[in-house]
Amino acid sequence: MAEIATLNINGKSYELPIIEGTENEKAIDISKLRSETGLITIDPGFKNTGSTKSSITFLDGEKGILSYRGYPIDQLAEKSTFLEVSYLIIYGELPTEEQLADFTRRVQRRSLVHEDIKKILHSFPSNAHPMGVLSSLVTSFTAFYPGSLDPNRSAEAVDLSIVRILAKFPTLAAWTYNNQIGRQANYPDNRLDYIANFIKMMFAVPSEEYKVDPVVADALNKLLILHAEHEQNCSTSTVRLVGSSHASLYSSISAGISALWGPLHGGANQAVIEMLENIRKDGGGSKKYLEKAKDKNDPFRLMGFGHRVYKNFDPRAKIIKKAAHGVLKKLGVQDPVLEIASELEKAALEDQYFVDRKLYPNVDFYSGVIYRALGIPTEMFTVMFAMGRLPGWIAQWKEMRENNEPIGRPRQIYTGYNTRDYVEPSKR
Ligand code: CMC
Repeated sequence: MAEIATLNINGKSYELPIIEGTENEKAIDISKLRSETGLITIDPGFKNTGSTKSSITFLDGEKGILSYRGYPIDQLAEKSTFLEVSYLIIYGELPTEEQLADFTRRVQRRSLVHEDIKKILHSFPSNAHPMGVLSSLVTSFTAFYPGSLDPNRSAEAVDLSIVRILAKFPTLAAWTYNNQIGRQANYPDNRLDYIANFIKMMFAVPSEEYKVDPVVADALNKLLILHAEHEQNCSTSTVRLVGSSHASLYSSISAGISALWGPLHGGANQAVIEMLENIRKDGGGSKKYLEKAKDKNDPFRLMGFGHRVYKNFDPRAKIIKKAAHGVLKKLGVQDPVLEIASELEKAALEDQYFVDRKLYPNVDFYSGVIYRALGIPTEMFTVMFAMGRLPGWIAQWKEMRENNEPIGRPRQIYTGYNTRDYVEPSKR
């Protein structure tokens, strides 16, 4: 029998349906609350608010479980490729060999970026933060591909937009970096796979042979898979909210890139390395930084620690920590920052403040250490996150449109002045 919640307001009771997901998580359906009671709910930061039903990702923050379309992320990170996982997330099933070959071919064929977009890129100052540049360039796609503007046009048109953004984002990201260091743009080499192509565009020096290191490619593949989707987080909710007005895929993803940029979200990977660097310059002691993080009068937070939904451990962080040690060893890189990270993690996990608040290292705590070892510059870390998160944003936007979800429009409780009369400037 369907469960029901009973709400009692001033002696009058209301029945609210309880809905249940496939993994038995439950929610009280309040969609008729206002029309029946005149009341709304308030939940700043949406800490207890489910905004949608979704069949893409399952996450259990208490148990540290994360799966995409039912497949555990550790299996995917171990055995799959980023493009295969993208297909899974976007279309719902693992592709057959043929489907994967066709998808790969379609993505590869579209990796070139319009020369006029390169002109826009080159008009940014070379020291512009790449996340701002990429958010602008992605939204510029609406001008170059006007067929993408109407998300209701046809399934084929939407699919073309999806393939285009997946195909061109690595090129844009690498060109943004090429531009930052004053190097001419490296063009895609479609003989290479998705990851190797990106690495080559990032690092190849024109007129010199470039061979992609398989250790670097493997590590990047794993990292992108681990970032590929994470249900209703800040940037994904942004993508869905923007898309709910029937804005195009590109403008929705551009908004997602902006949301991801903040240091409390994807920007944390850059902030973690900067914090670890500061600790190193400061003599390496983590105690001072732990005390700062605990001091309520100090805005400093231990970057890479804590998570809105993981209150036990972040399963992605566990895999990334192991990978970080492996990658550094394989590449023969000695990074003192890894030692500081390990010490800081140990000290925080033993500290009552962090224990009481269930604060654990998150996905961003060790990812920067790997990116550094791979030679990726700090300002590009969050771009790597965005590149990984693309399939998640796309799938969530697509699901929302296919379910014809209503426009997102939260309510509020007004706390301003009551109505008052206008006063002439001379009398104020
Ligand atoms: N350092 C020190 N104290 C912290 C931290 C931290 N990193 N994170 C949370 N707290 C404290 C916070 O001050 C609060 O204490 P109190 O109960 O005494 O007021 C308590 O823990 C709960 O924190 P909250 O801010 O209410 O929790 P939240 O769910 O709103 O925030 C968070 C989650 C990730 C924004 C936060 O933990 C944080 O700012 N972490 C650092 C930034 C970071 O690493 N972000 C990356 C998240 S993972 C990548 C992604 O998917 O975005």
